[in-house]
Amino acid sequence: MQSPEDEVSFGRSADADTGQGDDATLTFDPGYALATRGLSKRFRNGQLAVDTLDLAVPAGSVYGFLGPNGSGKTTTIRMLLGLIQPTAGSHQMLGFPMPEGQIEALARVGSLVEGPAFYPQLSGRGNLARLDAADRTASPATAPARIERALDRVGLLAAADKKYKAYSLGMKQRLAIATSLLRPRELVILDEPTNGLDPQGTREVRSLIRRIAADGATVFVSSHLLAEVEQICTHVGVMRSGRLVFSGPLSQLRGSGTSRVMVRTSQPELAAKVLNDLGLAEIRQEGQEVTADLGTLQPEFICERLVYAGVPVAGLDTPKRSLEDEFVELTGEGFDVEQ
Ligand SMILES: Nc1ncnc2c1ncn2[C@@H]1O[C@H](COP(=O)(O)OP(=O)(O)O)[C@@H](O)[C@H]1O
Ligand SMILES: [Mg+2]
Repeated sequence: MQSPEDEVSFGRSADADTGQGDDATLTFDPGYALATRGLSKRFRNGQLAVDTLDLAVPAGSVYGFLGPNGSGKTTTIRMLLGLIQPTAGSHQMLGFPMPEGQIEALARVGSLVEGPAFYPQLSGRGNLARLDAADRTASPATAPARIERALDRVGLLAAADKKYKAYSLGMKQRLAIATSLLRPRELVILDEPTNGLDPQGTREVRSLIRRIAADGATVFVSSHLLAEVEQICTHVGVMRSGRLVFSGPLSQLRGSGTSRVMVRTSQPELAAKVLNDLGLAEIRQEGQEVTADLGTLQPEFICERLVYAGVPVAGLDTPKRSLEDEFVELTGEGFDVEQ
């Protein structure tokens, strides 16, 4: 099953933190591009938007930071980037403690939190040049090469001299991501980069994220739509009301949750009674189908007991739960509910 290397719970660095007891400071673990401990944000109005978050983002991963609207994703990202102060906890980025190492860390981090303001009359290249010039730490002499490379990476070279207002939604978002790639980055943090995009734009952003990851950067990407990032993530964290309710490799999420058994029969009431007598939980009957949590029982055994009790078994299956099902269970709501 799960190899210890795949574990991304915070346990490892906590164990390495010898003799520190419950000290909340983090020890640097080079295996993680991003790590938080007990990170929390309570807004002045009293709302606890992020509640003791222990995040561990493995270096080289594409980490999907998922959760419904209002679950605390943007607030977390703003804290990670030092845009707002946490009310408790600590974090490190690329091994630098924050906020002490903010200058060194942020030079290696590209981010897109709120879309930068673009001038509709300027071309993509013109917009990037303007934003690049605003970065005091970047040498003007190398600006054209930097801009060219960023445009190339997001696949906008051919459209570089088109006016921004003529860009498609996907092109606009790719240009926004290009602003985070003007410099070489080890970590790229994108807050809902597919928000508001049509399916084509979403695909464009997805393939761009794949390319950024293939170039060796760790990508931390938030979304309230599981389906939009599922295909590109190696790891996921799931937020619910400010708390991280799951964190680990995507494959582990697939395997989590309880297995179900499904019986198709012309006598569903009798089948439900047999399953109940066997001690199975969460028995549900829908038409000619009865489902229940499998627990530790073997499906063969259940089938045998059903037949023995006189249930005409037309079909018996142990349906795999979809990722969507896992999320609904974790977040307590349909994941693609727009608010
Ligand atoms: N500046 C703020 N002041 C007060 N509450 C806020 C502020 N920003 C966000 N919140 C609240 O914090 C919660 C989390 O918001 P947010 O981090 O934006 O969630 P997400 O990005 O997952 O949609 C929400 O209930 C939101 O209303
Ligand atoms: Mg948000």
